Amino acid sequence: MSPLETAERSDHAARLRARLEGASAQVAVIGLGYVGLSLAVALGRAGFTVRGIDVDLERVSLVNAGRSYVIDVAEDHLRALVAAGRLSAGTTFERVNEADVVVICVPTPLRKSKEPDISFILSALESLLPWLRPGQLLVLESTTYPGTTEEVLQPSLEAKGFTIGRDFFLAFSPERVDPGNEQFTTWNIPKVVGGVTPTCTELAAIFYGKVARQVHRVSSPRVAEATKLLENVFRSVNIALANELALACRAINVDPWEVVRAAATKPFGFMPFYPGPGTGGHCIPLDPLYLSWKVRLNGFEMRFIALADEINRAMPRHVVSMTTDALNNRGRCVRNACILVLGVTYKRDVNDVRESPALEILRLLADKGARVRYADPFVPELSVGELKLVALPVTPSVLADADCVVIVTNHCGFDYAMVAREARLVVDARNALGGFPDHREKIVTL
Ligand SMILES: NC(=O)c1ccc[n+]([C@@H]2O[C@H](COP(=O)([O-])OP(=O)(O)OC[C@H]3O[C@@H](n4cnc5c(N)ncnc54)[C@H](O)[C@@H]3O)[C@@H](O)[C@H]2O)c1
Repeated sequence: MSPLETAERSDHAARLRARLEGASAQVAVIGLGYVGLSLAVALGRAGFTVRGIDVDLERVSLVNAGRSYVIDVAEDHLRALVAAGRLSAGTTFERVNEADVVVICVPTPLRKSKEPDISFILSALESLLPWLRPGQLLVLESTTYPGTTEEVLQPSLEAKGFTIGRDFFLAFSPERVDPGNEQFTTWNIPKVVGGVTPTCTELAAIFYGKVARQVHRVSSPRVAEATKLLENVFRSVNIALANELALACRAINVDPWEVVRAAATKPFGFMPFYPGPGTGGHCIPLDPLYLSWKVRLNGFEMRFIALADEINRAMPRHVVSMTTDALNNRGRCVRNACILVLGVTYKRDVNDVRESPALEILRLLADKGARVRYADPFVPELSVGELKLVALPVTPSVLADADCVVIVTNHCGFDYAMVAREARLVVDARNALGGFPDHREKIVTL
């Protein structure tokens, strides 16, 4: 490298480092969903000036009006940042040119074939490319298969003439936020960063050090990408184990919930996972398949992932079969039975129904001719295929009107004493009524 090139390289990196260290940098966040909006607000509160970019005009308008649509983003924080001019949003990409750091937080779903769909990343990249300039740091936060940053993003940037690590900086940093979890936030969840070069890692670490108390550096984007996938494989496999344990325990007349609770008293070497109606959300059912797809291309089968996926995906059908049996044991059939599903989000106390097992449970019950209803304070309306449903309040009469109440999501706000008292029959996929032994004869627990 010539002395001039060395000077240029340190120039770009030194200039960016100075702007990051002073938190005076401008940041563009691409994709203002759960992850992007939470990050944009955290960055704004840390002193950065943030431009959020989203293709969804409604979301952009809400942000500019200071209105939050993400359960963990406090509206007063958002409003204060917008009023102070530190956070704004738009649907076009030209302001990316003014940014020092660009963070991509777009969705990464699966195709129907269960293969990774990185089309949102590709489309965001295509929109970004004309506006990227030397001296910027680009970070991918969308969960994806190991290799995406170096095999997909890096070549496009190099084709534009950038030399990564010298005049442009590229890294991957997984988002680990847990929706609805007030104990762990952007600030106290350690941030893993892996850059394409050591300078990329260093700059990304300085950037995230402004919003996260601890930054853990890894040797490459591939390692950072795989780290996120391992975390969700771990959850998927352990949830599947708890689900299979539940079915096995019931076969030998043992209460699986009591077993897990007892095992959890061991202070080392055990972490409790509980059975449930199946996994949901944007992460656990999808992310492991990103990893198994990538390794399959290299001739390796991840059997744990496939088995966990199979077990977890079978759970909604199992809950429906428990419901059918429970009705049958009372001389009723599912056809024309009134079934009330309590909780339709993929986990408690969030407003997200993506991939929620409740959707499949409602669909399967409706296919069998049941008259399905639901109650969920977080979801006023719900579409399940052709079905258009409106949430019912949880009242004594709504509960008593149902031939069977199916507890799918155990929101904290439900009055479980009332459910136990008023419902005629309950299928409890969360052991939410475990504390009401007086009503045991009408409760069937997973
Ligand atoms: N939700 C979570 O709890 C969570 C946690 C960790 C990681 N992740 C990962 O983070 C990523 C984002 O997830 P999310 O839950 O925030 O998704 P989301 O669907 O809530 O939000 C994504 C946003 O990106 C926008 N978008 C799509 N294409 C775009 C484009 N080309 N340009 C600009 N904006 C575009 C969408 O309109 C949407 O507002 C995913 O890869 C996900 O797996 C999510």
